[in-house]
Amino acid sequence: MTEVIDLGEFGDGLRRDPHPVYARLRERGPVHRVRLPASDPAYETWLVVGYEEARSALADPRLSKDGNRIGTTFLDEELIGKHLLAADPPQHTRLRGLITRAFTMRRVEELRPRVQQIVDGLLDTMLPSGRADLMESFAYPLPITVICELLGVPEIDRAEFRKLSTEAVAPVSAESEQAAFVRLAEYLGELIEDKRCAGPGGDLLSDLIRTTAEDGDRLSPEELRGMAYILLIAGHETTVNLLGTGVHALLSHPEQLALLRADMNLIDGAVEEMLRYEGPVENATFRYAAEPLEIGGTFVAQGETVMIGLTAADRDPGRYPAPDRFDIRRDTRGHVAFGHGIHFCLGAPLARLEARTAIRSLLERAPGLALDGPPGDWLPGLLIRGVRSLPVRW
Ligand code: HEM
Repeated sequence: MTEVIDLGEFGDGLRRDPHPVYARLRERGPVHRVRLPASDPAYETWLVVGYEEARSALADPRLSKDGNRIGTTFLDEELIGKHLLAADPPQHTRLRGLITRAFTMRRVEELRPRVQQIVDGLLDTMLPSGRADLMESFAYPLPITVICELLGVPEIDRAEFRKLSTEAVAPVSAESEQAAFVRLAEYLGELIEDKRCAGPGGDLLSDLIRTTAEDGDRLSPEELRGMAYILLIAGHETTVNLLGTGVHALLSHPEQLALLRADMNLIDGAVEEMLRYEGPVENATFRYAAEPLEIGGTFVAQGETVMIGLTAADRDPGRYPAPDRFDIRRDTRGHVAFGHGIHFCLGAPLARLEARTAIRSLLERAPGLALDGPPGDWLPGLLIRGVRSLPVRW
């Protein structure tokens, strides 16, 4: 009989600091059968906590993202439309090809001055007050402004959009989650329709409406809605929390903060270490065994769900020595905070640009930056790692 570990038994401790729990599991083996805390969608699943096993599972084609292959439908796919994280090849290859044509490296590079401008504007507003909730004043507004401008979401809609998207990734209850998806679907449908009617704009969504591959292929209306959804949600909920937990890690380790202040050229490595140490995506989105397979010596039957622990993998002492030490000069190569394989984060270059620009400017303009009390609650659920508030002063 396989032992089932009830993660709910760890109570609120798992939400506040999951690392000791994952460390204990890792010591016992790389793969475990776990029961998720009750608010999560699937009750029992396999959880991969070892680095090597996680990395190879992320790239294993037998682990499917397409619910149709095993007769399951997901709330977001059902209500919003097919998207990258709910598709396998060849459908995934096709969708990824169409978005890659529109969302190019050049497009990200062109955003650099605008990202700096938004950061400067937010700091101009925040700094005179001497203290602030960094989430509210800085970490939230930056990524949401960037992704909304990139996609062409009007300013007026952003407050509502923020509420809906936070609820979609870290739902408070099953009912509020369902309601958020229904409203998101409606909202994105209207947004796309408005763009179609308004004629060509310079934003990414307008480009996607027009994008046609060489063979004449283009996104259907549902696929467009799915693409807008995944870009908007993945594009800001994650970056927000990288800024929050990244700055928290830095301010909680004064010697590392001093190192970075002394040499701002360390910023790229510091951001990578923030991703490894407290990555915003705690566990990758569910995968399903399309056929029976073995992961790290554990048999997984066809149709069973598999959750890949990114945070757990990135703190595996077999891969990163003294993994619980926050060390901005360590070699972080190979971390899986952005995933791995065909679903590797499409927005990694943009996320890196935002985090490097934001944290560098914040430190330069607030020389006395320090924590001003403990952070607020950690987000519920096992998908996103982040805090609701981060009091700081300078
Ligand atoms: C620090 C910020 C970010 C982190 C940590 C992050 C992390 C991830 C991870 C772990 C995955 C893979 C999930 C899985 O395999 O289950 C992923 C996929 C994805 N991310 Fe990000 N992400 C970030 C920012 C962004 C941004 C800024 C965008 C968009 C502009 C974005 C768009 C996407 C998309 C579209 C996918 C799906 C790719 C596919 O399935 O082919 N992400 N991200």
